[in-house]
Amino acid sequence: MKILVTGGTGYIGSHTVVELQNKGFEVVIVDNLSNSKKEVVDSIEKITGTKPVLEVFDLVDREKTADFFKRHNDIKGVIHFAAYKAVGESVQKPLMYYRNNLVSLMNVMESMIENNIDNLVFSSSCTVYGQPDELPVSENAPIKKAESPYGNTKQIAEEIIADTVNVEPIKTIALRYFNPIGAHDSALIGELPLGVPNNLVPFITQTAIGIREQLSVFGEDYNTPDGTAIRDYIHVVDLAKAHVIAVNRMIEGNMKKDFEVFNLGTGNGYSVLEVIKSFEKVSGQKLNYKIVDRRPGDIEKVWANPDFSNRELGWKAERGLDEMTLSAWKWEKALRNNQTES
Ligand code: UFG
Repeated sequence: MKILVTGGTGYIGSHTVVELQNKGFEVVIVDNLSNSKKEVVDSIEKITGTKPVLEVFDLVDREKTADFFKRHNDIKGVIHFAAYKAVGESVQKPLMYYRNNLVSLMNVMESMIENNIDNLVFSSSCTVYGQPDELPVSENAPIKKAESPYGNTKQIAEEIIADTVNVEPIKTIALRYFNPIGAHDSALIGELPLGVPNNLVPFITQTAIGIREQLSVFGEDYNTPDGTAIRDYIHVVDLAKAHVIAVNRMIEGNMKKDFEVFNLGTGNGYSVLEVIKSFEKVSGQKLNYKIVDRRPGDIEKVWANPDFSNRELGWKAERGLDEMTLSAWKWEKALRNNQTES
């Protein structure tokens, strides 16, 4: 059964391709390689024994997208990851974010409809909840005004999907990710941040390996037990597995309505200092960090209520924080070893 994975050479996309192939799906990737490398498909082949087909083009291009779907009209489902995701950059370049993230989604959906492909899994984000009034946050919590154009693209995308499933045969599962971290056990795929990382864990591992001088911990005056901000970190492999379950749920006709939304989190919140402590423990490295001012736009604390996902999808995040930070560290070391060798 053929599945299209857009953004399949990216961080979450590549881990999902591995899990799909492990379950016997045939995968075709479309990626414009704007934030990833084509060699990722070789790493996927090393892990699974199968090299996924990769077509390199931009889904913002309506004609190329239509042509691709015409040639692959035997696709049974689409997992749409392809999008820009840097919060800070989206504030500087809002139009670039709206065009890229929304036009590509609309092109994909239009082509799906033209070719009678009904099953769409969409990458959403816990960012749609903003700072929730109640914790843990469940799927029916109110959507707050987005803090960034990036966050707004996820909100608008969910609205575009909701309006479309009302009138077209297309069905969608939106997965709202909390904070994905870590890497595949093989250390062959993982996160590949270009330039200075924005996110906590890549910054930690790059500091430990000596690429960055020092980690800045953004704020210790939050209303949390140790004063640093709390997030629900989830292992990227746990996250990837949920996508396979979502695809099966659609294909097997088990959806309860045409647009379903699920939280993908562990249900556990950890502070920035707890993540650092976990990293220091599993790596045996002392991390050079200092406390600085809060980062503008950050929320204080958020973690998921994963009950609905656990019950409806029969899915549960299995890996704990130490396993996440250890796998991120192994990946960082493998990455640097490869770079010195080549
Ligand atoms: N943090 C630091 N120092 C850093 C980086 C981060 O202290 O160098 C802190 C942040 O202040 C925050 C926590 O670590 O408290 C996590 O920050 P991340 O940047 O890793 O992730 P966010 O929670 O900010 O998540 C954001 C968006 C998501 C998006 C995600 C990945 O809200 O929607 O980035 O791009 F998916």
